Amino acid sequence: MMVCEYKPGLDGIPAAQSSISNVDGQKGILEYRGIRIEELAEKSTFLETAYLLIWGELPTSKELAAFEDEVHSHRRIKYHICDMMKCFPESGHPMDALQASAAALGLFYSRRDLNNPAYIRDAVVRLIAKIPTMVAAFQLMRNGNDAIRPHADLDYSGNFLYMLNEKVPDPLAARIFDICLILHAEHTMNASTFSARVTASTLTDPYAVVASAVGTLGGPLHGGANEEVVEMLEDIGCVENVRPYIEDCLERKAKIMGFGHRVYKVKDPRATILQNLAEQLFTKFGHDKYYDIAVEMERVVQEKLGHKGIYPNVDFYSGLVYRKLGIPTDLFTPIFAIARVAGWLAHWKEQLEENRIFRPTQVYDGKHDVSYTPIDQR
Ligand code: ACO
Repeated sequence: MMVCEYKPGLDGIPAAQSSISNVDGQKGILEYRGIRIEELAEKSTFLETAYLLIWGELPTSKELAAFEDEVHSHRRIKYHICDMMKCFPESGHPMDALQASAAALGLFYSRRDLNNPAYIRDAVVRLIAKIPTMVAAFQLMRNGNDAIRPHADLDYSGNFLYMLNEKVPDPLAARIFDICLILHAEHTMNASTFSARVTASTLTDPYAVVASAVGTLGGPLHGGANEEVVEMLEDIGCVENVRPYIEDCLERKAKIMGFGHRVYKVKDPRATILQNLAEQLFTKFGHDKYYDIAVEMERVVQEKLGHKGIYPNVDFYSGLVYRKLGIPTDLFTPIFAIARVAGWLAHWKEQLEENRIFRPTQVYDGKHDVSYTPIDQR
């Protein structure tokens, strides 16, 4: 057997062969099924993009309408799930609530009929349809309210904002939110996608696959960073404090949230699109001083760390957009999950097409032949 060099974090080691998405980190290019992210953000919708990622081709108008109808008709969640969610502590993190609820879907729909395309489609539809409803339901319940039913006349993103805020959203806000979902839908072999593929490789059900990926996405080095970006901008408080804040971080060797990426060595193309969306929102709904702080941070970080390839990542401007849409900070990562479920399901499906259970190896550096010491002699 060939002995490979150990790479912490599997840095640079291919974990799958995939045709779902591609990143060129030197040029700042991201493609879904070969289509550039900028073009999808301009012309597509989240549901169409999800279809593209999962089934590999853009749908015809008939296929898209059928998919949208199926998703719309599965948006409600069973009262058992609502009752279960009501027992969650209000102080619990919404990502934990989402992970538990996604796993609970498996109690109702898990048949593990993985060779049946109808089962695959059914699971895809249910997960894409129900995850936003569960995120919105927990938000309302933790504030002492009942979850509200999906709005029959609103599209995917408009309906999510409606369920969250209990009012029909402005069309620009709904479209911007939909673009945010497109931008977060997929990103090659990141930690949560790897987690999804490892779980999928055991041939467990797709609800367990998504629950495992949600758990992985929650950490501050992955999807949790955009929450920390907003907290950081609030701590900084004004443009004048930006430079001393960054200099202090660098002196303490602390990571500046929302900057740096394992793959991108230039500005993440999604950050550029999100910055533009933030500007559109501020133009329509009023300026936000945190945007000025963010722009100054980008300038100073580039001056100090640009030579190391440290630039804004997707999390840097997304928090500002969500904040302006009135979304509470601790829902930012669950919203990332709403989008990324499309990518996870695409990888689940691809993994099943040529499955081999993941079983990497390790470099053992522990002891050998140690004798057991009885408890009273330790
Ligand atoms: N702030 C300051 N310095 C940084 C940052 C940062 N955000 N990111 C990387 N660096 C520096 C490191 O200190 C290191 O410097 P050195 O070579 O002098 O030691 C160098 O850049 C390389 O850093 P690594 O940690 O090796 O880079 P890695 O590829 O392992 O980490 C990561 C990538 C985890 C995203 C990192 O940049 C980070 O922690 N960023 C902040 C958290 C964040 O924004 N996460 C969201 C990522 S996007 C996503 O998951 C959706």
